Amino acid sequence: MALLREHGAEAKVLAGGQSLVPLLNYRLARPRLVVDINGLPLAGVRVENGSLHLGALTRHHELEDLSEIGRSTPLLPEVARLIGNVRVRSLGTLGGSLAHADPAAELPMAIVALDARLTLASASGRRTVAAREFFTGYLSTALGADELVTAIEVPVTEGMGWAVEEFARRAGDFAVVAVAAGVSLDRRGRVDDARLALAGVADRPLRATAAEDSLRGHEPSGERLARAAEIVRERLDPQSDAFVSGAYRRLLAGVLTRRALARAIPEGETSQPRPQGATVPLLSAQLARPAVSPRRPAASPPPEASPQRSAWGGGLVINGRAREVDVRPGQTLLEVLRDTLGIFDVKEGCGEGVCGACTVLLDGRPVSSCLTLAAAARGRAILTIRGLEREGRLHPLQEAFVRHGAVQCGFCTPGMLLTTLAFLERHPRASREEVRAALEGNLCRCTGYAKILDAVLAYVRGDDGDG
Ligand SMILES: Cc1cc2nc3c(=O)[nH]c(=O)nc-3n(C[C@H](O)[C@H](O)[C@H](O)COP(=O)(O)OP(=O)(O)OC[C@H]3O[C@@H](n4cnc5c(N)ncnc54)[C@H](O)[C@@H]3O)c2cc1C
Ligand code: FES
Ligand code: FES
Repeated sequence: MALLREHGAEAKVLAGGQSLVPLLNYRLARPRLVVDINGLPLAGVRVENGSLHLGALTRHHELEDLSEIGRSTPLLPEVARLIGNVRVRSLGTLGGSLAHADPAAELPMAIVALDARLTLASASGRRTVAAREFFTGYLSTALGADELVTAIEVPVTEGMGWAVEEFARRAGDFAVVAVAAGVSLDRRGRVDDARLALAGVADRPLRATAAEDSLRGHEPSGERLARAAEIVRERLDPQSDAFVSGAYRRLLAGVLTRRALARAIPEGETSQPRPQGATVPLLSAQLARPAVSPRRPAASPPPEASPQRSAWGGGLVINGRAREVDVRPGQTLLEVLRDTLGIFDVKEGCGEGVCGACTVLLDGRPVSSCLTLAAAARGRAILTIRGLEREGRLHPLQEAFVRHGAVQCGFCTPGMLLTTLAFLERHPRASREEVRAALEGNLCRCTGYAKILDAVLAYVRGDDGDG
């Protein structure tokens, strides 16, 4: 905070880096100083006095996975699953997403729907700001240049059902439009409270209070929900852009509002048919299943590259080996691995976190090395595809890729393998659909996904090969 006070707008805070590093890579931001806050104790999560308290450094994947978050505030895991890809969710933080304030981002919309409060701190003291007052315009917030978001307090809304619906052009893209809805019913089955927030329709996340008011005190009939959606649509005037027209955004906002409201009505209370399967979160089935090891226990990274933080803090720890290396400020891990150390099994594709070619495991989680500052990876366990080799032999998953014709090019395969291994480590009995969802953020331009899925499934089943 002293550095931020001294350097003001010339300093930039680094949290997950998933918005800041692309800006640095494209020279759209050229701060004199980057202040890495990852060492600060801002990652705690607790439920206390009717509120969920989240540190600003809570990662997107923690919002997805931590049971205390899911139990108290089910909207947060549901929106977190829609953010970018698995690598973005490994590093991206709640505080970073709120401070960045992209109007199409899911978390700003969610905290506006949840009536959260943010704690902002500077060298001069602390203050709290309501989520609805925090966002002031396009990529703009109430944060002063010397202030940090340190914590987010979310009132727990017991008895309220939540749902989010969004439309994006491609899995992992920012939403064109997203809607978060919350509904609670009184004992007579009438709407007691309703929340509606939207992203992608204005320069900041919006609360649709008139539509909320139209629901309170009424039965949540199909007609009532349709009327609320119409009110939302009527009051919006979204901009057109290179992707879609303003008129299309308005239309989407109405359709998604109706769907989100229908799903948010607490179980057993709806007076209209609930869309089939819509309330089942993507990963619920496998999360409920006890963890069972696959026949081949080979999903673990090799012992020397175990996902523990290395005690050695002076350089990079790559495939279990400490490497002393000079790192320039602003250099990405990808640049240092390839250009400085000549580790070419890490590939460069898009350079902006989308394709997955540059995937490495950092402390056991997949990250885009093109969006990770090398300095921020110091002393952490970095695993590249070469690190899977054991005594000159391929890893069994690599062998399965070879057997099933899944090694289609050298660019995508390393990222596919590392992402799969990290996923199977936590979900060893994953189904084809679950593997497909886990690999959504690894793009193959030749569209040969079927063989990749065949290979992974054969490995999961422990098939020993069919020649
Ligand atoms: C390929 C890709 C796809 C993505 N898709 C989506 C998506 O679908 N939906 C979505 O919502 N997001 C998406 N994102 C963005 C992602 O969610 C980012 O993680 C998030 O916007 C920024 O969080 P961060 O922790 O990475 O912040 P950083 O990138 O580290 O920082 C972002 C900004 O916030 C400031 N900042 C960070 N933390 C603080 C703090 N505690 N206090 C004050 N200022 C702070 C930084 O100085 C910087 O200006 C995507 C990103 C990528 C690369
Ligand atoms: S995700 Fe890093 S190069 Fe494409
Ligand atoms: S595997 Fe690389 S383009 Fe398909």
